[in-house]
This record gives sequence, C-alpha cells and structure tokens, in this order.
Amino acid sequence: MELHIVILAAGQGTRMKSRRPKVLQDLAGRPLLAHVLDTAAALDPARIHVVYGHGGDQVRAAFAERPVSWVEQAEQKGTGHAVDVAMPQIPDGATVLVLYGDVPLIGTSTLRELLQAAAQGLAILTVELDDPSGYGRILRDAEGAVRGIVEQKDASAEQLAIREANTGILAAPAAQLRGWLEGLDNDNAQGEYYLTDCVAASVAQGRAVAAAQAADEDEILGVNDRLQLAGLERIYQRRKATALLREGLGLADPARLDIRGRLRHGRDCHIDVNVVIEGEVVLGDGVRVGPNCVLRDVVIGDDSRIEAFSHLDGATLASDCQVGPYARLRPGTELAARAKVGNFVETKKAQVGEGSKINHLSYVGDAVLGAEVNVGAGTITCNYDGANKHLTQIDDGAFIGSNSALVAPVRIGAQATIAAGSTVTRDAPAEALTVARSRQKSISGWRRPTKSKG
Ligand code: UD1
Ligand code: CA
Repeated sequence: MELHIVILAAGQGTRMKSRRPKVLQDLAGRPLLAHVLDTAAALDPARIHVVYGHGGDQVRAAFAERPVSWVEQAEQKGTGHAVDVAMPQIPDGATVLVLYGDVPLIGTSTLRELLQAAAQGLAILTVELDDPSGYGRILRDAEGAVRGIVEQKDASAEQLAIREANTGILAAPAAQLRGWLEGLDNDNAQGEYYLTDCVAASVAQGRAVAAAQAADEDEILGVNDRLQLAGLERIYQRRKATALLREGLGLADPARLDIRGRLRHGRDCHIDVNVVIEGEVVLGDGVRVGPNCVLRDVVIGDDSRIEAFSHLDGATLASDCQVGPYARLRPGTELAARAKVGNFVETKKAQVGEGSKINHLSYVGDAVLGAEVNVGAGTITCNYDGANKHLTQIDDGAFIGSNSALVAPVRIGAQATIAAGSTVTRDAPAEALTVARSRQKSISGWRRPTKSKG
C-alpha cells in the first residue's frame, strides 16, 4: 500500500528562545527536521508532507533540494487540524504515518512495526514512562483494548496515574483517518483539534485500535527547549560511540567523541578524547587520531597519525602520514605516503609528494611539492598578489631553507637548495644553490652611539 508520511513541524518552539524555528535547531550538526526526513525517506514512502507554520520560509529554504510536499498550517489549531491540512494531498488508498519534526531519534524498525499494525486500522505508538507527566495517557478497558487517549490537561487524577503514554506517532488507513479528522471538535481544555481523539472515534465505529511499543524510550523524546536538545545530543552521541566501539573502533572515551556526520574506519584505528568528526570522514587501517582534533571531510590512509590539536578540512592523506600537533590542513590538501606536516603549519590546495616534510611554522598554499622535499621552518608560499592566486612548484628533493618566502608563480627545481631567509621571485634551477637575500657584512671598529649630553 502507498505510504504517505506527514511530519508536523508548525510549532513555534518559543521555549528555545531562538530566532530560528525549532525544527532548524541542530542535533549532531544537522537540523532536527533533517533527521526526521532521513528516517522518513528510509521507509520509502510515496510522498512526505511537511506541515509548516512558524518561520516557514526559513524551513522551506533549508530543505529546498528535498523532494517534500510543503503544507502550510497558517494558524495552529492543534495536532488534528495539522494532519487535516495535509489530507487533501493524500489518496484514500494510502496508509498515513504521522511523525514530528521535533522528535528526531525515532527509528525505522519501530516505525515498520507500527505500520504493520496499521494494516487494518489505526495504530498508535505508546511508551511506558516512569514519569509520564505532560504526555497524553492511554486509556484501556478491562480486556486491555485501547479505548482512547486523554491529554494531561483533560485527565482526572485517576487517569494521571496511568504510565502508558502517547508518543503522538501513529499510522492509519487514509480513508478512515480522513473521516475521523472531519469529525473532530475542539471541546477540550486547550480548545484544540486533538489528533488523539481519532482513537475514541475509531473505537466508536467498532474498529479496534492497535498499540505498538517503542523499542527504546529515547526514540520518542521530543525537543521543546535547549536543555532537552542538549540531552538528545548526548543520547545521539552515546549511540554513535557505542555502535563504533562495537564495530571495532578504539575510543579513549566514548563520552568524549562528537560525530556530526559520518565516520567510516578500517581495523585498529584509535581516537583519543575530544575529537569532532564532521561531514564524511574515512579512516583506513591503523589510523590514530590524537586528542582535540577536528576532522571534516577527510580521507586518511593506513597507519597515518594525526597528533593533538590538529584541524583537517577537505584533505586527503595517503598511508603513513604524520600531521600535527597543531596543524591546519585546509581544503585541497593532498598528502602522499609518508608525508609530514608538523606544528603550526597551514596548508591549502597543496599537493605534498611522498616522504616530503613541512615540519614547522609554514604556510603552503596553491602548491605542488614533489617527493622528498624538505620545507624549512617559517617558509611561506606567497600565493596571493592581492587579486589572483598563483602556483608554487617545488620539485623532487628540493630543500627550502628556513624563513624563505616563495613568491608565486615560481618553480624550484629538483634537488635545488634555497638558502635560509631567501625571498625567491624567479624560478630556481635544479641542483643549484639559490641565495636571494642581502649579503652579510661585518664592520670592524664600529662604535655604538653614545647618549648626547646637554
Ligand atoms: C501531543 C499529544 C500527546 C502526546 C504528546 C507527545 C495531541 C493532542 N497530544 O501533545 O498525547 O503525549 O504530543 O509529545 O496530539 N503541531 C503542529 N500544529 C498544531 C499543533 C501542533 O504542527 O496546530 C506540532 C507541534 O509543532 C509539535 C507537535 O505537533 O511538534 C505536537 O504538538 P503539541 O501541541 O506540542 O502537542 P503536545 O501537547 O505535546
Ligand atoms: Ca509537545
């Protein structure tokens, strides 16, 4: 049967105290709604409908490239009304699944179970909570059949003692749902059209309501304020770290790793504390990452080591490389095997050949280095003339003396030696020593100035 997923995302999120709509707040580096959209997409629906309201333009703009049908709920009259505004776009033969833009950890296996239960009629997702306050409570009869849901604000003292709570997530055949939604009223404590009243409506028609249980109560947690968001972030990160440990990744401390993207790794990799992973990161076998590193969109070859406090962004490293401590590799950095980039070195659009070393305090940008090049401390590629970027080429085996400025475009030939402190403005020939600095002289018998009197 055709699956249509309706994601409710019209809430204002006042308690976030933010200029951004709630569903655009980040969890693990991505908006809350992105997590829900990914989960929804994994169920392979015919269509995903997002019901938006507050900050609608911002929300739509953030997901412009997603194949989503946007439905505006201009005025928020309750969850039942929110689903109802999406119904005109959903055919009678479909199954409708209702999700929430601010409930980001819901998993596909729980939802698949719920959808199975919804084949005949309404199925709701419930959860047993030690403290269900704030949630709607599930009303069951003596036989255990679901009879209705009562909201916290409408519940009697007796009903408030019920610990089985409504997660809000439900699924139903579209034709039935349409009928119940049309019959809703807002005669309740909040003056809203409650989606939850569909349960009693189904029961009144003599149709049983199925209830599926969430496998894990973290799955159904919603975000209303920053405290809850921070709590969910920790849950998300704990899950990721647990999965990585199970896959065989070594972690100094699973509580001190943050994955804001995707991490793939080979065997015997180890990550020290306070490492942040962003975008797509791929580690080969035997890669070691020191403490306090940020890795964003990088590929690191076998047995390479990233030392403490290094920041790698858009870089590709072959095997046996060494980076850091305190190195910054910017986009377009490509290190061949056994290359070394040491402390306080910044690279950008730089190809560094096999076994080449840039060990200390350098800037190497828009550069192509051959194999076994040695770049001395304090070397700068002057790649920018104020208008354009130019290339520096350093061929195999060249030795760049410390504190040299290589003014691009410029080429240093193979096995060339550049004297320390040179400012190189023209190509330096292979094999030769190039000295490009003023000659040292000494003046003997020179007298220091003395302080004048009077
Ligand atoms: C709802 C359920 C409650 C359940 C709880 C779980 C109803 C009546 N109650 O209560 O049984 O235990 O969720 O968290 O459904 N929304 C819209 N448009 C609206 C109203 C709400 O898009 O007009 C969205 C909100 O952005 C929010 C979600 O629906 O993401 C839930 O709405 P909210 O008013 O917070 O419902 P609860 O009172 O939490
Ligand atoms: Ca809520």
